[in-house]
Formats: sequence, structure tokens, C-alpha cells
Amino acid sequence: MDPSSSSRGIRFLAVAALLVASLVGTSRAREAQPLPPVAEAEAVGSSRRAPERHGLSLDFYAKTCPAVDQIVANVTAARYRDFPAAGPAVLRLFHHDCFVEGCDASILIAPTTTASAPKVERDMEENRNLAQEAFDTVEMAKAAVESKCPGVVSCADVLALAARDYVQQAGGPFYRVKKGRKDSKVSLAGKVRGSLPRANSTVDELLRVFAGKGLGAADLVALSGAHTVGFAHCVHVLGRIYDYRGTRRPDPLMDARLVKALRMSCPSSGGSARVVVPFDVSTPFQFDHAYYANLQARLGLLGSDQALFLDARTRPVVQELGANKTRFFEAFVASMDRMGSIRIKKGKKGQVRKICSQHLLLA
Ligand SMILES: *[C@@H]1O[C@H](CO)[C@@H](O)[C@H](O)[C@H]1NC(C)=O
Ligand SMILES: *[C@@H]1O[C@H](CO)[C@@H](O)[C@H](O)[C@H]1NC(C)=O
Ligand SMILES: *[C@@H]1O[C@H](CO)[C@@H](O)[C@H](O)[C@H]1NC(C)=O
Repeated sequence: MDPSSSSRGIRFLAVAALLVASLVGTSRAREAQPLPPVAEAEAVGSSRRAPERHGLSLDFYAKTCPAVDQIVANVTAARYRDFPAAGPAVLRLFHHDCFVEGCDASILIAPTTTASAPKVERDMEENRNLAQEAFDTVEMAKAAVESKCPGVVSCADVLALAARDYVQQAGGPFYRVKKGRKDSKVSLAGKVRGSLPRANSTVDELLRVFAGKGLGAADLVALSGAHTVGFAHCVHVLGRIYDYRGTRRPDPLMDARLVKALRMSCPSSGGSARVVVPFDVSTPFQFDHAYYANLQARLGLLGSDQALFLDARTRPVVQELGANKTRFFEAFVASMDRMGSIRIKKGKKGQVRKICSQHLLLA
């Protein structure tokens, strides 16, 4: 066992107490959202195909909106100070966008209020607890961009930039974001099912979902490292801490101290639906590689996190990234670039929305 797991556990208890004190019943409890996709993973067969990677470039807006990175960064920096939990929430939003029909801002389309209107991606269970603060951040950044370069920069690119900014603001790597994505013309609820991992996915399911996006085991482990920041709602851990697979006992593969601490935050029934617990129990606000060390010490929060260390296909990557922060940062940046290139829409296949939550009305 990792000799540092004991001190990590103790630090965790302090962190847990602090978090429960600060999160419950405060505005932060509203803002904090889990980064991990909690979705369905059936029937990916038909969507299994290599992503089309084409046409993104670092200088896509060099002539039309040269300051776009800085304009977005100004907004995200201010938002990060006011709502730190918007950071992981924006990262999660980007993930949920790219994994369903590609990085095309289809996730940003607002649900319609009329009963007869077709349901959009946001109407699906998998997307219901995406944080409103994340949507607001993107909308604010987009409005700032529109004021300087109207009608030019897509919402999909603004989301990709905002996600990058937050990684850096939380202490993670800075990387340059390729641009040139167009926004979708549709957002269809029916495309969500089976496209996103869920909290209790097995490694088989995770690998299948990622393969459907043209991503491999290394991408799965590197992108899961985003759980170095962010929070999950209790509902996603109740099974592991009270009744693992119908045994009426906790998951034997979770450190007993973590079980105990989580039970304090998350009662088996009657707890507040708003309480959240950190993915990275040792440094929940720092974008570092502690997530992987936690997995090796059985301190992974979700079953789908812990499984990455238990499975022989992914364990070596967990160990490699857990041993070397530079290596993690390199791997994360490379995988974010791949994820950010999934099924890019070009030309007439897409549009540039003015307001990210609303499609342009097409003539
Ligand atoms: C970003 O904010 C700074 C400080 O408020 C300002 O001077 C600068 O013009 C802004 N840059 C852009 C591109 O909006
Ligand atoms: C995983 O969680 C979903 C709900 O999110 C549930 O329907 C399903 O039964 C769970 N699967 C397992 C194997 O626990
Ligand atoms: C950590 O990873 C970096 C980048 O891959 C590499 O250059 C460095 O040598 C590694 N450090 C150790 C101690 O292995």
C-alpha cells in the first residue's frame, strides 16, 4: 500500500469536515457540480466511428478576432474569482458537449418550454445537473466576444477556450486551443443515451464509450484526471458506501476511512440532494496529479474512478500519471486536444450562434 495513504486520509478528514461545513447550505453547494458524466452507457455500437479530425487551427481567428483568447480569459478569470465551482463545471460541460455529436455547442441549447417542442440534450437525465453557472460563464464570455467581433466566433470555440482557462486557473497546464469549430444546427435529446460514461460504469463500458469517440485507454485515464477538481452529488456514491451491489455493505475496495467520512456527509436516506463531496479527497481545489495517487490508495470517489486502478488495462497509466505531474499534464493536454477535435462541423454543416442557448433562425 502507498505509505502516504495514511497522511492523505487524515488530510482528507480535515478537508471533508471543512467541505461539509462550507458547502452545505451555502451558495457553493448550489454551484458545485460533479465533473463526471453520469450517464448511460448502452448501445454505443452505432455511434462507434473514428472522429473526423479536420480544419482546426491555432490562428483560425487571426484576422477576424485576434484577441479572442484574451477576451474569453478576461471573463473566465473574473468568474473564477466569484464562483470557483464554475471551473470544474465548465470542464464537465465541454466533455458533455464533445461526447454527444461532437464539440458543437449542442449542449448549450436551452430546453424549450412548450410541451410539443422536441427535447434537447439538456432535457436528458445525464445533463440535468450540469451547473447553470457553467452555462452562464460561456454565455458571458460569448457576449464579450460578440461585442468585439460580432458573428464570428462560435460558441463551441468559446467553450473550448473557457475549459482551457479553468484548467490553468486551478493550477493545471496552460495549452493553446485550436479553433474553427462551428455550432450545431440541432440539439437532440435522443443522441445523449449511450454517449456518456456514468458514475458506476465498468472499465469495459468506459472503454467502449471512449472508443466510440475515437479515444483510447490512455485518453480515458488522462481525461479522468479532470476529477482532480470538482464534486459529485451524494446520490452517485450512496451505493458504494451503504449497499455495494446489493450486499448491504460498503464497497470493499473503498478505504474504510473514506467510507466513514462520506457517510457523515451523505446519509443513506433523507440527506439533502444538494450536498456534494470532492472527487479528489486530498487536494480538491488544485489541478494536480493527486487524483491518481488517491486511486492507488483506494480513495477514489466513484466506482468508475476506482475501477481505473483495478483494471489491468488502465492501471499502468494510472501509475504512470500518478508518479509524474509533468507527464500527467502532457497526457491531459494531448487528450483534451483529441477530445476537442471530435466530429467538428465545418462550413454549411454548422452555424455561428449569437446567443449560445439559441439556434439562429434559418431562412
Ligand atoms: C482584459 O482585461 C484587461 C483588464 O481589465 C483590459 O485592460 C483588457 O483590455 C482586456 N482585454 C480584452 C481583450 O478584453
Ligand atoms: C448504475 O447506475 C444507474 C443509475 O445511474 C443504475 O440504473 C444502474 O442499475 C447502475 N448499475 C449498476 C451495475 O449498479
Ligand atoms: C516526468 O515526465 C517528464 C515528461 O514526460 C519527463 O521529462 C521526466 O523525465 C519525468 N520525470 C521522472 C522523474 O521520471
